[in-house]
Amino acid sequence: MSGDALSPEVAGGPRHVAIIMDGNGRWAQMRGRPRLFGHHAGARRVREIVETCPDLGVEYLTVFAFSTENWKRTQTEVAGLMSLFRRYITREARALRDEGVRVRFIGDRVRLDRKLTALMDELEEMTAENSRVNLTIAINYGSRDEVARAIKHMARDVAAGKLDPEGVDEGTLTRYLDTRVLPDPDLVIRTSGEARISNFLLWQSAYAEYEFIDTLWPDFSAEIFAGLVRGYAARDRRFGAVKA
Ligand code: FPP
Repeated sequence: MSGDALSPEVAGGPRHVAIIMDGNGRWAQMRGRPRLFGHHAGARRVREIVETCPDLGVEYLTVFAFSTENWKRTQTEVAGLMSLFRRYITREARALRDEGVRVRFIGDRVRLDRKLTALMDELEEMTAENSRVNLTIAINYGSRDEVARAIKHMARDVAAGKLDPEGVDEGTLTRYLDTRVLPDPDLVIRTSGEARISNFLLWQSAYAEYEFIDTLWPDFSAEIFAGLVRGYAARDRRFGAVKA
């Protein structure tokens, strides 16, 4: 991405922002509407935030759309969310491609229905040449599950003689994770007032800054996002070292 899109006030801003989009259900309930109404409103916010990324110098945006724990919700809500993902991909594909967004998905696809995974593959392929902004959508994602799958894969490679266990280090595990091609998140945002990580990018966020804000996800806006990005730029990250 070209540096000239960076306005001076966000120089030193986060390259990768990850968001736990929480509060859709409460937002809908406050309006006397079903929870899915909130998820639909939440999906619209994603597009708005992606569009602001290039101007803010954010190259990677990762959003938590469905966790490995979300299967415990009612069948109506799970089915509604799956149908929302299919519709979102179908409806937004062209615009995302034309706006230079490269879309990737992380999470375990095994439990997802074939129609949805086919759409996910198609969208990844359609946008593979884009580089203006990288949008990663986490569906059936959980950090512990991701690490367990990575270790299983590593063990298979060791058994097949493709991986030397003596050479295994932090970088090796990083390369086996779903996020292998992404830089670590610099800033993790969670909306709706809950100060929890909920199994999201645990390994990758070892040095991330966290922002827990009260806004419910459907009320999140480009202005709030820009404010958090600027706030990050004003901070001093040392990665465990002492400032020279
Ligand atoms: C958490 O709010 C939100 C979810 C489990 C779903 C997130 C999905 C979207 C924002 C829409 C789809 C996004 C894309 C990219 C297509 P909650 O239901 O836990 O809210 P609550 O805590 O108020 O109940």
